[in-house]
Amino acid sequence: MRQVVVSAPGVVKLFGEHAVVYGKPAIAMAINKRLRVAALPRSDGHVKIIARDLKAMGLIINVAGNGEIAIETEYGMAMNAISYVRTAIEVAKKYLREPRGVELDISSDMPVGAGLGTSAAVAVASIKAYASAFGYHLTNDEVASLAHEVEKTVQGAASPMDSTVSALGGIHIITLQDRSRLSMGPLPLVVGYVDRESTTKDLVNNVKELRARYPALIGSIMDAIGEAVLLARNALESNDLATVAELMNINQGLLESLGVSTGRINSLIYAARRAGALGAKLSGAGGGGIVIALAPEAVKEVKIAMEIAGGHSFPVEKDDEGARVD
Ligand code: PMV
Repeated sequence: MRQVVVSAPGVVKLFGEHAVVYGKPAIAMAINKRLRVAALPRSDGHVKIIARDLKAMGLIINVAGNGEIAIETEYGMAMNAISYVRTAIEVAKKYLREPRGVELDISSDMPVGAGLGTSAAVAVASIKAYASAFGYHLTNDEVASLAHEVEKTVQGAASPMDSTVSALGGIHIITLQDRSRLSMGPLPLVVGYVDRESTTKDLVNNVKELRARYPALIGSIMDAIGEAVLLARNALESNDLATVAELMNINQGLLESLGVSTGRINSLIYAARRAGALGAKLSGAGGGGIVIALAPEAVKEVKIAMEIAGGHSFPVEKDDEGARVD
């Protein structure tokens, strides 16, 4: 039996997080850091998951049967990561005439759970690897919508941003109903990250409560974020990086006013700007997590500055390729 390895890129949100929940557009980019799933068919109908980078290991028993699927896990913290893989298998197995067992070995060359879309990448790569291991080809468009289904099932609610961009690669402008790929040149960014202090679910909920208390005010902030996204789209497509950077700074100010930035995020952002970044903002839900800086002339300086300010940091580039069999 043949082993198939599928990789899927991580994702950074460039513009429009939080406002996308209220129907505004957002822009997200696939990065040149990948998560890999190696799938090896098993003859016993069991699914075994080994994911040392996710601190997870599980045995999902009896994928071929219709009854309750039992999960046995080792390592602490396993359940959350295992839930994405388990749900991905349940979704992907509908496409196989005869669902069979598989061993999935998951590894990642980016930090997992930091806010780089790794849960979407796990879903994307697991779906494609499981189907491919049994000779079934799913297009990346199909994988994108199946992975979105997985994220919604596990999280309760999720925008299609991460699953779409991880499956398809490149940069996309996305609304809840629609998406379109932007054509543009390279976009070198420096990623910084600090520990999360709150979950995405709590932050989305905090914004919802703020909006309920100040509907007109928060509505105007959402409108302003939407406007920044549209201006950013034009600037990205004309490779006008100075304007892209300025709009990142404006978007950051608007996110700060929604209450989702933190002191530690702000320390990284100001350190990056002082070290030569043209623009810097949080990326994702906030409450800690990811900061992105656009610093075409000062990548090394900005990386060091964010580390001195208390974060981990590494440079990333746009990756135009989405999920692929390696
Ligand atoms: O926390 P992350 O990296 O999953 O980003 C969440 C982005 C939000 O816009 C806040 C929520 C969403 O589902 O789009």
